[in-house]
Amino acid sequence: MNELDSLVTSAQALFAQSATPADLENAKAQFLGKSGRITELMKGMAALSVEEKKSRGAAINVAKQAIEAALNARRQALADAELETQLKAEALDVSLPGRTRTTGGLHPVSLTLERIEAIFGSMGFDVAQGPEIETDWFNFTALNTPQDHPARSMHDTFYVEGGSSEAPNLLRTHTSPMQIRHAVQHVKRYRALMDAGQVMPEIRVIAPGRTYRVDSDATHSPMFHQCEGLWVGENVSFKDLKVVFTDFYRTFFETDDLVLRFRPSFFPFTEPSAEVDIQFASGPLAGRWLEVAGSGEVHPNVIRNMGLDPERYIGFAFGMGTDRLTMLRYGVSDLRLFFDGDIRFLSQFQ
Ligand code: PHE
Repeated sequence: MNELDSLVTSAQALFAQSATPADLENAKAQFLGKSGRITELMKGMAALSVEEKKSRGAAINVAKQAIEAALNARRQALADAELETQLKAEALDVSLPGRTRTTGGLHPVSLTLERIEAIFGSMGFDVAQGPEIETDWFNFTALNTPQDHPARSMHDTFYVEGGSSEAPNLLRTHTSPMQIRHAVQHVKRYRALMDAGQVMPEIRVIAPGRTYRVDSDATHSPMFHQCEGLWVGENVSFKDLKVVFTDFYRTFFETDDLVLRFRPSFFPFTEPSAEVDIQFASGPLAGRWLEVAGSGEVHPNVIRNMGLDPERYIGFAFGMGTDRLTMLRYGVSDLRLFFDGDIRFLSQFQ
């Protein structure tokens, strides 16, 4: 192998070893740079005759071109490799499932509350909301519940910090304290009117919301929902309660094949009192009586605690369990499903 051939071979070998473009440019300088081997060879021709210059120059040129070709090939190979790594790094796995944007929705119990509000709204009822941490006064005393009533016991009621031993704070055990809260506000608003001898505009309100009791199984949750109702005026009777309730349940369940039963019962804040049962004529629950609410004519002591004269004003109140209604409407058998927060369950209601 002559000198020029081995020069080309060593250039090719050096280029092949260059792993980066910078290495390659350094390697190039050794052959084609200002003081590179090829340049040196060119310079070395100065002393040669014209004839010799011609053939020597041609031979050096061939070697130079071979080195340049090897350089360019290596440059291209390195650029290709770089592009390849870049493409790999930026690769999109189109087989990955897409990231979908899930849409939120209302909880089934909220759907029921909205439905209840719409139906009672169409019957002229306002909607009121009040605190879940209540005082003993609003939750029990103002509602004519005696000091020794079992509902006040620690077994049934969650007592919370704050308040005093005579007036403890608690998580409301029912929505009934809203009867007092709302009526007192209403009476205050119309006091001047009444003092001037006019009749108070009727109180007609529902108060849906969360309630709490020490209780937990498939049909009881320590936190549950109720909807209170109150209609007080000069002549609001049990008959009105029956009409309103019958209308409500038939509208709620979208069927006229539904009967109500008012079962005599006892609540300290109503007299007379009744528990309300409903019965479907058809469907999976046909023929079974299902307890859905407590109700009654508001007790004179409660009317008095509202700031009204029980000789003049009278009305009815009710408290319905709304989780139960939601279970019945959607055919859910375990109450706890509503509060577990399992998205697989909840998304079925969207
Ligand atoms: N507060 C009662 C309960 O939770 C229900 C009720 C409300 C009864 C209003 C009568 C009148 O059981």
